Amino acid sequence: MKDKYIIIGSDHAGFELKEIIKKYLIEEGLEVHDIGVYTKESADYPVIAKQVAKEAVEKSCRAILICGTGVGMCIAANKVKGIRAVVCSDTTSAKYSRLHNNTNILCFGARIIGENSAKDICKIWLETEFEGGRHQKRTDMLE
Ligand code: RB5
Repeated sequence: MKDKYIIIGSDHAGFELKEIIKKYLIEEGLEVHDIGVYTKESADYPVIAKQVAKEAVEKSCRAILICGTGVGMCIAANKVKGIRAVVCSDTTSAKYSRLHNNTNILCFGARIIGENSAKDICKIWLETEFEGGRHQKRTDMLE
């Protein structure tokens, strides 16, 4: 994987899958900054999403957010200027979100996909680079 530093966060619904994905990313050689949550106690996804998204912009790095469906995290993360977050349940969306949209936050749902799918989605999303070219103009328009 090209990126060596990544931020990760979840709410209570995503906590267990976050722990699995964090371990996977570390095994793949990445430095992982885990912003929480650290227990299964009920937590508000907008709080974690905002914290992760702000740090991703400040550090110009990518991040992964996990909640029950991935939807709430994605909506919340996209409120932060500079964030292009995608919620994915398949590798094709993950790949093209990088190639064409230069997504910098990947969201998925622990109640939607299993751990093997989540690992495959992370891997392709982290390994795929933005194509630029005609897509640069379009992502610039998002700002
Ligand atoms: C929590 O129950 C759930 O609503 C949250 O994890 C997420 O799926 C929201 O989009």
